Amino acid sequence: MSSVEGSTSVSRPAELMRVPQHVGIIMDGNGRWAQARGMARSAGHRAGTENLRNVLEAAADFRIPILTLYAFSTENWSRPAPEVRALLRLVQRVIDRELNELHSRGVRIRQIGRREGIDDALLRRIERAEELTRDNSELILNIAFNYGGRADIVDAVRALVREGMASEEIDEAAISARVSTAGLPDPDLVIRTAGEMRLSNFLIWQAAYAEYYSTPTFWPDFGREELYKALLAFQERKRRFGGLLSGA
Ligand code: IPE
Ligand code: IPE
Ligand code: MG
Repeated sequence: MSSVEGSTSVSRPAELMRVPQHVGIIMDGNGRWAQARGMARSAGHRAGTENLRNVLEAAADFRIPILTLYAFSTENWSRPAPEVRALLRLVQRVIDRELNELHSRGVRIRQIGRREGIDDALLRRIERAEELTRDNSELILNIAFNYGGRADIVDAVRALVREGMASEEIDEAAISARVSTAGLPDPDLVIRTAGEMRLSNFLIWQAAYAEYYSTPTFWPDFGREELYKALLAFQERKRRFGGLLSGA
């Protein structure tokens, strides 16, 4: 296999025959990336946001229709206040810097996660990005921001109760229709960078049957070639969904 690094003209390498419909990425390891260079954690977060463009371009080239990026969890509020502030500022800056370009490339941006707790200036930007890009369909980009999988399920259950749904009518489809990714297929591949083997409260309802892929590479270094490797690994997986493989 030849390297695909930097080959922006390659739209979709021939080896990729089965691409997931929905890829989730737990973008982890910014702090360790910075520490390894003797830099402050905030420099790692900055490098992480600079990497977004690479990965989004590659995802579009590989024809991934839906991408969900874990940017800030409900648990990340427990970090030291200056780090939280730096992260929030970065999100704002990324929207300011990238929105027009993403829009012109047909990316539809949505935030998933709770809106409460996000300050007004950032919330306005998020809403503007969602509004501007709402009719785009090249790539659906969900930003999991102030997101927690358990909170997602709690909010879905609250919606059911508010609607007065009878308990015997509640089934998995009813919950799926009320979590933050309602209307989208569940992720079939979840990638985590920086080597941990846990979901850290990411899409825990939706990823029940996702294939899981972990790479030791820190997020700021996770580029086109790394994404490609994850997609190749996905393609090799034999998904059984609790049944037996046909012909087995
Ligand atoms: C991921 O990098 C960014 C967020 C969780 C917001 P980390 O900040 O978790 O980096 P490590 O895990 O400490 O290296
Ligand atoms: C998960 O990473 C959250 C995001 C990538 C936004 P964390 O670094 O917060 O997860 P833990 O603390 O290692 O579980
Ligand atoms: Mg981390």
